[in-house]
Amino acid sequence: MQRIDKVISEQTPYTRKQIKEKIKKHQILVNGKPVLKPETKVTEEDKIMIDNEVLKRQKNVYLVLNKPKGYVSATEDKNDHTVLELISKEYLHRNIFPAGRLDKDTTGLMIITDDGMFSHEILSPKKHVKKVYKVTIDIPITEEMIEGFKEGVKLKDNTCKPAKLEKQREKVGLVTLTEGRYHQIKRMFGVYKAKVVELQRIQIGDFSLPKNLKEGESRVLTKEELTKIYRK
Ligand code: URA
Repeated sequence: MQRIDKVISEQTPYTRKQIKEKIKKHQILVNGKPVLKPETKVTEEDKIMIDNEVLKRQKNVYLVLNKPKGYVSATEDKNDHTVLELISKEYLHRNIFPAGRLDKDTTGLMIITDDGMFSHEILSPKKHVKKVYKVTIDIPITEEMIEGFKEGVKLKDNTCKPAKLEKQREKVGLVTLTEGRYHQIKRMFGVYKAKVVELQRIQIGDFSLPKNLKEGESRVLTKEELTKIYRK
């Protein structure tokens, strides 16, 4: 059981004050009857109507964003624009955050959610959820790099888990990781004296960046898409 004003404020952009006003004006109904007090308790089964519209209750929100360059993967930042500035205002009253970081100059697939458990599961190396990146470097991709990635690149602080590097063109390849260390791909190529020129995440689990989602755009993920990212 939860207070109705809490339920509504979590699911809509209305503030508690606005909800109180609506309650006063009998604009909020539970199972067909006007609610009289903001502290009224409701269950998940109760049918809530606001201004004659049924409140579609969703436990968590999952959004896919095509991240452009120039935005940091944080909920707030003093100096930079954050990816949350690209998300529709209607979700900002929830405690949403980026599930996993991309560097400021990295583009592509990013999940924004308020589900901490889900975020943990897709990021934990133990769950083996793959992340695929399209990468362009400044020198040709070599067999040594491909073999090295397969074995596990040794960085200064530790050794990466085995990764896959597939050469697509001379300087363009696909990298598949199941972990996400700080600047990982840049540092992995750095071991071979290569500099990453472009980096785009194109896949998480079996879910690919939707072709029609332009840079800077975001939308809600369908249930089917969610299970492609991670199946419990
Ligand atoms: N590896 C990097 O170096 N940067 C990213 O943004 C993601 C993976």
